[in-house]
Amino acid sequence: MAYKNILVTDDDGITRLTINRPDKLNALDRATLKEIDTAFTELNGQKGCRGIILTGAGEKAFVAGADISEIFELNKSNGEKYALSGQAVFNRIEQTQVPVIAAVNGYALGGGCELAMTCHLRFASETARFGQPEVNLGIIPGFGGTQRLPRLVGKSRALELCLSGKIIDAHEARRIGLVDRVVPAPELLNEAEQLLRLIISKGPLAVASIIKSINEGLNVGLPEALRIEAGNFGHACATADKEEGTRAFPEKRTPHFKGN
Ligand code: COA
Repeated sequence: MAYKNILVTDDDGITRLTINRPDKLNALDRATLKEIDTAFTELNGQKGCRGIILTGAGEKAFVAGADISEIFELNKSNGEKYALSGQAVFNRIEQTQVPVIAAVNGYALGGGCELAMTCHLRFASETARFGQPEVNLGIIPGFGGTQRLPRLVGKSRALELCLSGKIIDAHEARRIGLVDRVVPAPELLNEAEQLLRLIISKGPLAVASIIKSINEGLNVGLPEALRIEAGNFGHACATADKEEGTRAFPEKRTPHFKGN
């Protein structure tokens, strides 16, 4: 599929999805959100795609937020619909069966910070900046920020960031748990790729099931979450990959997982 606002490239199983509106600091307008949604729909379950790096074009921004010119037009009812449709796109990213790493190469503000939080992991360049500045516009985060941020950094820190609208640097984001790793800008994509290469050497069914178990478990109470884990463990035990993995161990060889 041909895209206007994103670039999708593949390198031996690792897909790079670049949001490509650098003149607008990669702000998410509706057209870009739709393209991201289409791309993730196509990539999810596509055999050749084993891991995804999500990044922004240019050196200045990952994504500087939802497109403010579109927010200006919103009223009560279409505002709620707008938030729900953005959340649906982000939920799709979170539910992707292969690991998705946000390679945050600059500003990740508002919808950009929310987009990064939707990814399974976040690597940041030393130049990255994070924040939920919606309060400066008289609105609140609407693409999951008030919910995913406290789950990552705790209630007080999430409240401080959302209420103050302040922007923090990559090291502070790392310190509070918003970011998993901070690296020099030139090494950002390479670091993300290296981790993905390690993950894709494992069994794809187990990888998908771990993502699903953690995602689903975090949305329910512990007893239900443990039942979800046990059910998924049972499924894993029925796979040829489990046969291969547990046979390779005593034979002291590297397992060859086939994803079945
Ligand atoms: N929506 C729409 N356009 C945006 C945007 C957004 N969220 N963020 C940046 N842009 C546009 C600017 O309007 C400008 O376009 P123009 O050249 O046509 O005027 C262009 O991107 C460059 O941004 P600019 O503000 O000139 O860059 P800067 O280096 O001075 O400042 C930021 C960078 C990130 C601090 C600033 O752009 C900003 O505060 N952006 C909005 C952040 C925000 O509130 N996000 C949450 C939205 S809900």
